[in-house]
Amino acid sequence: MKKFLVIFITLLITFSISAYAVSAPTLPEPVQKVYSPDGRIALLPQSRAEEYIAAGWFDAPVVTIYKPNGETSLVFMSDVHIHLANGWYMSPDDFPKKTKAVALTYDDGPSKYTNQVLDCLERYGAKATFFVVGTNVNRNPDILRRAHSLGMEIGNHTANHKRLTSLSASSIASEINSNATYIENATGIRPTFTRPPYGSYTSATLSAAKQPFILWSIDTLDWKTRNADSTVSEVLSKAKDGDIILMHDLYSATVSATERIVPALIDRGFDLVTVSELAQRKGVTMGVAGYRSFK
Ligand code: NI
Repeated sequence: MKKFLVIFITLLITFSISAYAVSAPTLPEPVQKVYSPDGRIALLPQSRAEEYIAAGWFDAPVVTIYKPNGETSLVFMSDVHIHLANGWYMSPDDFPKKTKAVALTYDDGPSKYTNQVLDCLERYGAKATFFVVGTNVNRNPDILRRAHSLGMEIGNHTANHKRLTSLSASSIASEINSNATYIENATGIRPTFTRPPYGSYTSATLSAAKQPFILWSIDTLDWKTRNADSTVSEVLSKAKDGDIILMHDLYSATVSATERIVPALIDRGFDLVTVSELAQRKGVTMGVAGYRSFK
């Protein structure tokens, strides 16, 4: 009886194994890694991977490279070294520094035009400084965050754009400090300098503000002319190393002017830098004083 049981169990095991072999699942489809232009990676079955590649993904890592003239190109990571030897860069921040630099500054925003100014600056790897007003900061915090994340500098242009020379010392401090808090809430960074509205200040205003005032050396009067040709010619006829250029990101004419000024200045051998970088390049440590340029 015991022997019979052993034979029975042996048969049972044999049948189970062969039954399993017959019904064994088919092998899974091979998987493949695919890479998106913006750096995402997906591991997919081959047929899905092919669909992704048809839709613009790649079968090897790719990277965007940049040229100082504003050109960009998407290339395979394995070929990057060839392009880097031919005038391309991994980031606009890697462009070689030029001997001349100016600071483009935009006042009174952020507004519905600011993103177009940012698009242009980003395309050319250019930096600018935005002197923002509290009421607009609170209206457009996302735009300010984008400006900050692109490496633009944010300066204080007060909470309510009042003429500081007509305010008490405590009101001046409050106009500056409350806007600094709005900016900090939006970007995480508290600005360290102010542009007084209308450029109007006295030594008493400065003492109340307790921080540098940034003025300008080239006034485009873009707010008055609302004319791109006039703004462009004002900048291109006057720009010299160390200048601070005043514009307002409130007008479509200023967007058009920016789109012409940025490549033209780069073409003429200028780096477009933030106010802080311009000061740093000229070896100036800013104190509680007014600055019109860094020369
Ligand atoms: Ni202003």
